[in-house]
Amino acid sequence: MKNTNPKNTVSWKNLFKHYKKVKKYHIKDLFLKDINRFKNFSLCFKKKILIDFSKNRITQNTIKKLLSLANEMDLKNAIRSMYFGKKINKTENRAVLHVALRNLKSNFYVLKNLKIKFSIKKMLKKIKIFSESIINKKWLGYTGKYITDIVNIGIGGSHLGPLMVSKALTPFKNRLKLHFLSNIDGTNIKELLKKVKIDQTLFIICSKTFTTQETLTNAKIIKKIFLKHAILKKNMKYHFIGISENEKKVLKFGIEKKNFFKLWNWVGGRYSLWSAAGLSIVLSIGFKNFLLLLKGASDMDKHFLKTPFKKNIPVLLALISIWYNNFFKSETEAVIVYDEYLSHFYEYLQQSSMESNGKNIDRNMNLVNWQTGSIIWGSTGTNCQHSFFQLLHQGTKLIPCDFIVPIKTYNSVFNSDHHLKLLSNFFAQTKALSFGNNNIKNFKNKKEVNSNKIFKNCFGNQPNNSFLITEINPYNLGSLIALYEHKIFCQGVILNIFSFDQWGVEYGKKISVEILKVLKNKYKCKNYDNSTNSLINFFKKFK
Ligand code: F6P
Repeated sequence: MKNTNPKNTVSWKNLFKHYKKVKKYHIKDLFLKDINRFKNFSLCFKKKILIDFSKNRITQNTIKKLLSLANEMDLKNAIRSMYFGKKINKTENRAVLHVALRNLKSNFYVLKNLKIKFSIKKMLKKIKIFSESIINKKWLGYTGKYITDIVNIGIGGSHLGPLMVSKALTPFKNRLKLHFLSNIDGTNIKELLKKVKIDQTLFIICSKTFTTQETLTNAKIIKKIFLKHAILKKNMKYHFIGISENEKKVLKFGIEKKNFFKLWNWVGGRYSLWSAAGLSIVLSIGFKNFLLLLKGASDMDKHFLKTPFKKNIPVLLALISIWYNNFFKSETEAVIVYDEYLSHFYEYLQQSSMESNGKNIDRNMNLVNWQTGSIIWGSTGTNCQHSFFQLLHQGTKLIPCDFIVPIKTYNSVFNSDHHLKLLSNFFAQTKALSFGNNNIKNFKNKKEVNSNKIFKNCFGNQPNNSFLITEINPYNLGSLIALYEHKIFCQGVILNIFSFDQWGVEYGKKISVEILKVLKNKYKCKNYDNSTNSLINFFKKFK
């Protein structure tokens, strides 16, 4: 990958000049100037996902200049480096191969490493056999009863992907009930125990490192509770599964070798739902549906690799995001989903995007003086229309939004027009945000000012993308997730940062382990700054 400072490129300078003109444009005027604007600024993926990016503060010229930035930053070769398995995660000296997990059979795929291909194949076979035995009630617990409940114990990438996907695909779920233990909060365990019967529950401990404090603490206490019921350690083999890179630690915990599923070091935690870390997804929707999820992602991978940049969905969306983040200085991006089943989607994106691109050192080891990752936030429509949308309509901040909407609902209730109403709200919001309802200039006359009309004025000009999806099924969801993964990758490449490490989080983890020791001893804390010491000592006094 090229390590160019993006601000020193000719394209960046051109973009900056261009920005000075475009910043004055209103989206509604851009539509007046170009009657084919929708056609010119929308793309459809496999007739399943329509992406409309016409309601943005961009012109054809903006796209041209942004594409030139992508080229100057050598994005093409960076993509190939990832697909070829080059060690692009330099700070951890690793390849980044989540793409390999979903492209075993794809002939476009360029990875030549047969060993990796073979181990993925083997793993998929193991997942298939295992999941089918659980779903089909062949696998029995220590009392001879079949499994009814699955508990995924993991955090970060070992939690958010499985949680988001299994919720999004609720209509495809089988009889198994899925639960998640992630946070290190006893409340979750107490509440979980009210819902499950230990002798009919399977505990999946998912941790790439098998050292994460939250996961291991939860897993150890679950093991203790389990052994209180099952008495004998050998009974663990019917109820405990370990997914990790670290086989030794899994076996040491007391998990049988045959219940161990390997995570490879070339799969980043936040990109791991396609691997064995997605086992809870497979258990909840079945292996066939999991393959469709992989297929959807694989087709997006192909699109990303093969499509010229001017028609390449992840590339264009990444560039538009860079445009706002770096030229308009918008700090955040909101992701609004018009589907209850997608309610975890923005949380999932928070990790994949902000953990990837929340970096301040560039690939040349210099402090950046441009913007890198945006703040990702969101909610479900229409709930958020009655909360933070007021700020979007009439506030002072520029907040680009992604609207994600399924055309079909799985739940039409008693012939009600729920879904039509839900969708009418989506259409209305994208229109209102971009076009507004008037222009301040029209309010110059006193009569109207006196009539308070001015307070009802919405300027519009809030940019947004719409993702209109035929339905949320495994294939389409796989495509959508891969689309965002690739968008995040492009942002990282163009902004000259390393997207696949997370040293900041590692630092936070280290400090909390150190402080735990301080909390457990009886001495007054003097180790840290004045504020931290005082907080800890106040806690110690009243605990
Ligand atoms: O949050 C940091 C992180 O390292 C994530 O990248 C990862 O998904 C999560 O912690 C959990 O790590 P592990 O799977 O090793 O328990």
